[in-house]
Amino acid sequence: MEYTEWLKYKDLEYRDGILYFENVNTLDLAKKYGTPCYIINENMIRKRYNELKNIIDSEYIKNDIHFAVKANSNISILKILDSEGSHFDCTSRGEIYTCLKAGIFPEKIIYTGNMFTNEDFEFAIINGVVVNLDSLSQLERLERAYNKLKKEKKPVSFRINPEFGAGHHIHDITAGKDIKFGILEDQVIEAYKKARELGFRDFGIHQHIGSGINNPYDFERATKKFLSIIKKIIDSLHIKFKFIDFGGGLGIPYHPEEDPLDLDLYKEIVIKPFKELVNTEDIGEPIFKIEPGRYLSAESSIILTQINTIKDNGYKLFAGINAGFNTLIRPTMYNSYHHIIVCNKKEKVRKLKYDIAGPICESGDILGKERDLQELKEQDYLAILDTGAYGFTMSSTYNSRPRPAEILIKNGRSFKIREAESYDNLLKLQIIPDHLK
Ligand SMILES: Cc1ncc(COP(=O)(O)O)c(C=O)c1O
Repeated sequence: MEYTEWLKYKDLEYRDGILYFENVNTLDLAKKYGTPCYIINENMIRKRYNELKNIIDSEYIKNDIHFAVKANSNISILKILDSEGSHFDCTSRGEIYTCLKAGIFPEKIIYTGNMFTNEDFEFAIINGVVVNLDSLSQLERLERAYNKLKKEKKPVSFRINPEFGAGHHIHDITAGKDIKFGILEDQVIEAYKKARELGFRDFGIHQHIGSGINNPYDFERATKKFLSIIKKIIDSLHIKFKFIDFGGGLGIPYHPEEDPLDLDLYKEIVIKPFKELVNTEDIGEPIFKIEPGRYLSAESSIILTQINTIKDNGYKLFAGINAGFNTLIRPTMYNSYHHIIVCNKKEKVRKLKYDIAGPICESGDILGKERDLQELKEQDYLAILDTGAYGFTMSSTYNSRPRPAEILIKNGRSFKIREAESYDNLLKLQIIPDHLK
C-alpha cells in the first residue's frame, strides 16, 4: 500500500501541511485539549466492526463478535460497539462491572479470566455472565458457587490450549505446552465429562492463541488442532456446543510497510473449516464467536504529544516529548513499533533521524527509535498512531504523572470522554496514619 493510502486507511491525511484525523485538525485538538491526549475516532471503530462483521456474516450468519475489553475499556467506546451489535469479552470482574455500567446486557458478555478466584465466580453468577474456565480444577469451584447462590447454571466453557500459538511478541503468544493458559488436549474429555456429571447442561468451547497476528496462515495449525479436539469431544461425549469461540489476535498494520490483515484469507483459514465441521458432524448449530480487541480499536486512536526538548548529545538526536511509557507502554514492553508523524508538516525542511523520548526516568522510555522526521523544533506537535488498543488500558501513573484525557471525535466534532487526571486524583486513596500526621 502506498504511504498516503496507508494513512488514509487510518483516516489520516495532510491538508496544507496540517495533519487531519477524521476531518479534524490535530493542531486545533492539541490546542483545545492540551497534550498529551488520546484522540479516538468513533467512525473508525464502527467501520472496523462492520467490515469484520460483514465478512463473517457472508460465511456463517450465526455469529457474535466479542470485543476484548482489555484493549479499550472506556465506557463510550463500549457503548459505540454495543450500538453496532458487538458482544464483549471480559477478563476480570472490573471489566464486567464496566460493561454493565455501559448498559451492556450480561448475555452479551463472556468472562475469559485466568487464575479465577471463588469471588470471581460468584460475581459472574450474580451478574448472569457465562464463565470460560481456564483449568480443570476450577470446575468444581464454579459448581459450588452456583449451588451456594442457588442460581440456574449458565453454559460452561473451557479455554483449550491447542499448543500452536502465534503473536507479535513472546509475551503475547498464548498457546503452547509451557504457557499458563487453557487446558491441553489430554484433559479435554475429562473436563466436559465432569462438567456434565456436575449438572452443567449447556457447553461452549474456546481458544485464543495470541495477539497481533498479521498473517492469517498463523491461525491455521491451531484452528485445525482446535477443530480436531472439538470432533473428539463430539465423538466421545455427543455434546452439542452452544458456541465455539476462536478468540482474538487479529493484527493491524502498525508499520507503513505492512498491509491490513487479509480478512478473506482469515475466512478461508478459520471460518470455512469451522463451517465444514458444523455441516459434517451432528453438533447442532453452534454460534461462531471471535474476540478481537486490537483489530476493532487500535487504529481508532492517536496520541497527540508536544515536543519540549530537542537534544543533540553529539552522537544522537533526541526529540523529548510529554508522553512516555506511562502513556503508551507497548514500545517499551514489547519493543512494538508505533508510527510517529508530525502534525505540522513543513515544506523544504531537511530530514533527520530522531529517537523519540518520553519524560519517564528510565532509559527504556523511548517511543520511537531512529525515526526519519522533518527537522523538529521544540513546541512542535507529533501524533503517535494506532494507540486505541492497549494504550490507555495499559497506561500508568508511574513517576506520579497523571493520565491524560481521552477525546472522542465524530463527524468533525470533538467530545471529552475522560478528564485528564489531577495530582489530587493520584493521592486520593492514600491514608496517612495518625503517627505521621
Ligand atoms: C482471551 C483473549 N481474547 C481476546 C484477546 C484480544 O486479543 P487481540 O486484541 O489481539 O485481538 C485477548 C488478548 O490478550 C485474550 O487474552
